[in-house]
Amino acid sequence: MQIKTPTETPVKVIDGRQLADVLIEEMTQEVNERIQQGLSQPGLAVVLVGEDPASTIYVRNKIRCAEKAGLFSLVKHLDASCTQKTLEDVVVELNEREDIHGILVQLPLPQHLSEARIINLIDPTKDIDGFHPVNVGLLSSGQAKLVPCTPLGCMEMLNREMGDLSGKHAVVIGRSNIVGKPMANLLLQANCTVSIVHSKTLEPEALCRQADILVAAVGVAELVDKNWVKPGAVVIDVGINAIDIDGKRKLVGDVNFADVAEKCRAITPVPGGVGPMTIACLIKNTLTAAKQRDM
Ligand code: GUN
Repeated sequence: MQIKTPTETPVKVIDGRQLADVLIEEMTQEVNERIQQGLSQPGLAVVLVGEDPASTIYVRNKIRCAEKAGLFSLVKHLDASCTQKTLEDVVVELNEREDIHGILVQLPLPQHLSEARIINLIDPTKDIDGFHPVNVGLLSSGQAKLVPCTPLGCMEMLNREMGDLSGKHAVVIGRSNIVGKPMANLLLQANCTVSIVHSKTLEPEALCRQADILVAAVGVAELVDKNWVKPGAVVIDVGINAIDIDGKRKLVGDVNFADVAEKCRAITPVPGGVGPMTIACLIKNTLTAAKQRDM
């Protein structure tokens, strides 16, 4: 899709839904071929604790997508008041199951549960979130096996949009374990010069204005306007923020889309950008985990 801006420069809107559909189609074929060859059907287990509305929707979408790609899938839904031991027992059982290749425990967990202990308990070979310290270490030492889904989806979009990323200056806004840090690592591996901007960075706008690639993953609605963006940059918006406009709820990213679209070369929308790619990459990681088990 192309939008004409006031200066008549066409801005490319990167369609994450369309790209995710292409990836899922490719993976569906690969899953079918595996089954025809007598190899195992990749299996995904999602653990959901409680009734958080956003998490419930995310889990439903993940399972729907897994089924579309021909994966075996199941959801373990635990009560919000469950104990750490109950949750740990579920993870241990999934670690041991032969028919499960990928395990995802939907975050955030209720306050009384330790996320770190749960993440560390997941078998690293089934850790399709790539959050286990073993997978974090493998990524940062250039031996990546399972990489967090959102940064993986962003890289897929950047590679398709820009080709070789070598020598580009990439600025990542946000330093979370889920997105910011692994994103920076992946960009570094792709030979970018990488800066990370966070809440204590001095003059963040000036640094972002140097970026050929700008990835916003900070969770602040429409923080990034055109003053943060170099003309011709490629902008990836990871944020999903619900805001209220005239009493109506609206989803927006960390980027002020209309403002930035006037200045950049390409941009991902919210919704319909990074979100669908994250789910497609979850399927990709489950397939990767199944293939790694075969080796
Ligand atoms: N909650 C929000 N994003 C994620 C994610 O990528 N993985 C998990 N497990 N939980 C999440």
